[in-house]
Amino acid sequence: MQVTLRHANQPEVSFACEAAETVVTAARRAAITIHVACEQGGCGACRARIVAGTVHYPLPASARWLDEASGSDCYALLCRAVPTSALVIETAHPWRHVENSPLSRLIGR
Ligand code: FES
Repeated sequence: MQVTLRHANQPEVSFACEAAETVVTAARRAAITIHVACEQGGCGACRARIVAGTVHYPLPASARWLDEASGSDCYALLCRAVPTSALVIETAHPWRHVENSPLSRLIGR
């Protein structure tokens, strides 16, 4: 699945997401860091608005952060969300490219 990130004052960035892979994990593989904290679907730090597409949650994610959607907005917890279609996401925090060093590739960060 193709994932596209949007954030104010940043160019869009897109990367591939493998089956059963979370958005955060796929972003890391593409040397992109997304703002996270707990990485267990509990804190809401990675919460982002879904502009287009759908996700599912194979592992638990706090409904607290997902139920706060207002109007027709739909939100995802990117540390646990696995795309089920091409996805366009507007992040609350800036994402950044990271040096894809051998160590970062080894540990997946
Ligand atoms: S980083 Fe805490 S919910 Fe995703």
